[in-house]
Amino acid sequence: MESFSISSSCATLGTPLPSHWKSKLFPKRKNVKMAKVTSKLELKPLPYALESLEPHMSRETLELHWGRHHREHVEALNKLIEGSELEEMELEEIVLSSYNKGNILPPFIHAAQIWNHNFFWQSMKPGGGGRPSGVLLKLIERDFGSFEGMVKEFKRAASSQFGSGWAWLVYKANQLDVGNAVNPLPSEEDNKLVVAKSPNAVNPLVWDYSPILAIDVWEHAYYLDFENRRDDYVSVFMENLVSWEVVSSRLEMAIERAASRQRQEEERSEEEEMLHTEATEVYLDSESDDAEAD
Ligand SMILES: [Fe+2]
Repeated sequence: MESFSISSSCATLGTPLPSHWKSKLFPKRKNVKMAKVTSKLELKPLPYALESLEPHMSRETLELHWGRHHREHVEALNKLIEGSELEEMELEEIVLSSYNKGNILPPFIHAAQIWNHNFFWQSMKPGGGGRPSGVLLKLIERDFGSFEGMVKEFKRAASSQFGSGWAWLVYKANQLDVGNAVNPLPSEEDNKLVVAKSPNAVNPLVWDYSPILAIDVWEHAYYLDFENRRDDYVSVFMENLVSWEVVSSRLEMAIERAASRQRQEEERSEEEEMLHTEATEVYLDSESDDAEAD
């Protein structure tokens, strides 16, 4: 399992912030004639009825978790970013901008929690669970030895996350240079599936990973149904709720994203090589002209 060192200040939002972070880092939009249209973020509807995950996740849990906790993050973020440049951004951009390379800004916890919860709701379906198939199963077997091996590692990550947080299955294909002490450095062994865990609202987007499955292990996610038995909640999630179809389609997108980046990287290298070759030829030509003149 991936083990990440996240500073406690980052994890608890205790990092000292600029006193005027909003006006300093995200200045107010200027009044221009063609001002970009902005709209408030809204609470996305669940992809299923409130009671349809029962008996594994109760209607009461979803009413509290989606209807109250998730909604409060949406309302808080809208208030916080009103009038700033963040208001014009897509949710994922707000997450990355307010992560601020580890020096977390106030909107991050709300933006990331909105993104994480949207992702979590879509990771489940009524009658979920079972086993994946196709490319997803092949990569799981390649990277974890077996499906059971991945499940074991995922459960261990979810159960051992101290305090509030998340556990993830991610496709790791870093390309960015993450020049930041709280980020794991890109490894030589990229382009593979790994299990990760993160504290509070932190998600793998900030490490430039592509998440494909998430479980919320904040206590509000399971206390009504399982009290303090987090292990039971995680087992029920994996065995009865996960939508492997959604996870498979996310993996396809992650592989395509990595391949697209790879192609762009190769094209850039070829262009640089051509420019270098042209420059060398010009230099050689001018040298031979000098020789002829002599
Ligand atoms: Fe939650």
